[in-house]
Amino acid sequence: MSAHANARPLKSRRSSGLRGVAAVPGDKSISHRALILGALAVGETAITGLLEAEDVLNTAQAMRAFGATVVRTGSGAWRVQGRGVGGWAEPDDVLGFGNSGTGSRLVMGAMATTPVTAVFTGDGSLRGRPMARVLDPLTAFGAAYTARERGLMPVTLSGARQPICVDHHVAVASAQVKSALLLAALNAPGRSRIAQSELTRDHTEKMLAAFGAQISVEPLEKGEAVFVTGEVELKSCAVDVPRDPSSAAFALVAALIVPGSDIRIPAVLLNPRRTGLITTLIEMGGHIVIENERESGGEKIGDLVVRSSALKGVEVPPERAPSMIDEYPVLGVAAAFAEGRTVMRGLEELRVKESDRLAAIAAGLKANGLTTAQTHDSLTVEGRGLDDVPGGARVTTHLDHRIAMSFLTMGLAAKDSVSVDDIAMIATSFPEFEKLMRDLGADFQQVNG
Ligand code: S3P
Repeated sequence: MSAHANARPLKSRRSSGLRGVAAVPGDKSISHRALILGALAVGETAITGLLEAEDVLNTAQAMRAFGATVVRTGSGAWRVQGRGVGGWAEPDDVLGFGNSGTGSRLVMGAMATTPVTAVFTGDGSLRGRPMARVLDPLTAFGAAYTARERGLMPVTLSGARQPICVDHHVAVASAQVKSALLLAALNAPGRSRIAQSELTRDHTEKMLAAFGAQISVEPLEKGEAVFVTGEVELKSCAVDVPRDPSSAAFALVAALIVPGSDIRIPAVLLNPRRTGLITTLIEMGGHIVIENERESGGEKIGDLVVRSSALKGVEVPPERAPSMIDEYPVLGVAAAFAEGRTVMRGLEELRVKESDRLAAIAAGLKANGLTTAQTHDSLTVEGRGLDDVPGGARVTTHLDHRIAMSFLTMGLAAKDSVSVDDIAMIATSFPEFEKLMRDLGADFQQVNG
């Protein structure tokens, strides 16, 4: 994907010690799920700390299109009046999900066992992403769809008139696919079983339990199976969304690589299926201390204290990939500033994110003077140490917010400035990114065209 007509480039320059508190916004995964479960529940769900970024706002709009009442009552404070499981109305227009794989795929699942038809589309990035991985298993519940070739959007999905429960093994390491099937199971009579070999994020399972669903999890020799009993009403439930570790990742890596930094990232989600980056950075020698560990709304949270550190290259095992899948772009940047080689394996899912992230990370690192090697599912970065990353290039972001934020992070510690071709997509997940980083001391400069 090339940058769109209104592309806004931005440059980042070597900065001196980052300091302060980085209060990152609410978790994207949990925000989508809070709106969707609120719309499926009976009664009013009050949400606080909701991420008010484009992806999540598109999901809120879709919930309105299915007949839920969704109102904003203050900053991050939202109220959803649900229609009940199986109670969604038919949208009278096409649903636009912008850049969001999560929003679109979860909503496909949530409507697949209700007898309504909806048309799903999105931006140039989303229209290029595989949807058959979720649509094909939804047909087992009795849903039917048409799509462009290879299951691409626009997609028309008709929910089952007489849904049936399923026993399905999810072949890809995707929490979105797993979650879509769990949501579909809510309105299928009987007990569905959804199994997966990898332990992907479990926010849907946790939140379904909090909303009163009949759900249980059994470990398997490899992975686990989730059981959901259908036709059980969900009861509205207050949701306080913790801060997003995938957004915290940029301030975290910036503080490690910019000498003289010392920052605090408060109340960030520390669900063990999301903390692979923290584990890896600590293995690399990063000074990251977790303080005030506590529980909030069934999820573990804590404050991160981060200081600049000499990093060394490491081998990141493939089984860790699901717990840090969105963090590889910024880990690639950390690896550039480490001494020695970093090897990351098990990355095949990175090929089908908002961009082909494996290719985008490798290209951005190479343009900025790093030596890298990639296979279909691995990336090797030859680190140059804290003081010797050349920089100097303009990075193509391919409509990918995380590629943009990662390379702006790189420019804060590289010898020459690093620019990105477009920061517009950052608003899909982290609209406050530029201001929050500037407040810590990041030197960002506007550039023309
Ligand atoms: C998400 C799951 C992951 C992740 C995405 C959010 C979710 O995608 O990359 O940003 O909220 O379930 P996949 O399920 O495609 O791995």
